[in-house]
Amino acid sequence: RRFVVLISGRGSNMQAIVRALRAQGASAQMCAVIASSPDAPGLAWAREQGIEATLVPHRDYASREEFDQALAQAIEAYEPHYVLLAGFMRVLTDEFVRRFEGRLINIHPSLLPLFPGLNTHGQALEAGVQWHGCTVHFVTPVLDVGPIIAQGIVPVLAGDTPQTLAERLLHIEHRVYATVAGWLAQGRVTLDDTQRVQVQGVR
Ligand code: GRF
Repeated sequence: RRFVVLISGRGSNMQAIVRALRAQGASAQMCAVIASSPDAPGLAWAREQGIEATLVPHRDYASREEFDQALAQAIEAYEPHYVLLAGFMRVLTDEFVRRFEGRLINIHPSLLPLFPGLNTHGQALEAGVQWHGCTVHFVTPVLDVGPIIAQGIVPVLAGDTPQTLAERLLHIEHRVYATVAGWLAQGRVTLDDTQRVQVQGVR
């Protein structure tokens, strides 16, 4: 199966995904990393790894529609089975989401449906929850909603700041996204008629 990853920044989740796909051998291929910003550090890493790294700079487009169209074209050139959003910070248009529905996957740094949107770690601390986490889910037109594939959790500790909590969670994000990438590569993830996720051999 063929994968494309979309990033906007550091790209540590992308790195975890690339490693997970490599571990799958010939059944999985990371065709390209596409970044929305020229200063995404993840782009350089991808190039060093010999992965095609493409830039679709959102600043070059007058509207979200035009950007999404350029992005969709860049993605489709690789004919991927799956498009993974990994720290991709642009909100996608409904049209884009529908075009890739069922193949478009995101990681969100909270236990959805809790804390959609930005500053999820601050939101978690503010709410006083004892556990925080991340969610890998299929993307649907409503932001941070969509069938959940997997989640990971971390404890919230006394004295945590949004930064310390984010750091603790990031390691778990990598493990969860890598695990899901492996499942996708093996063709084990499906959506049933009620839009629930089934993972063969897991649930
Ligand atoms: C991750 O915490 C992801 O969940 C969030 O942005 C961060 C991206 O980190 N949406 P990286 O670019 O994968 O290192």
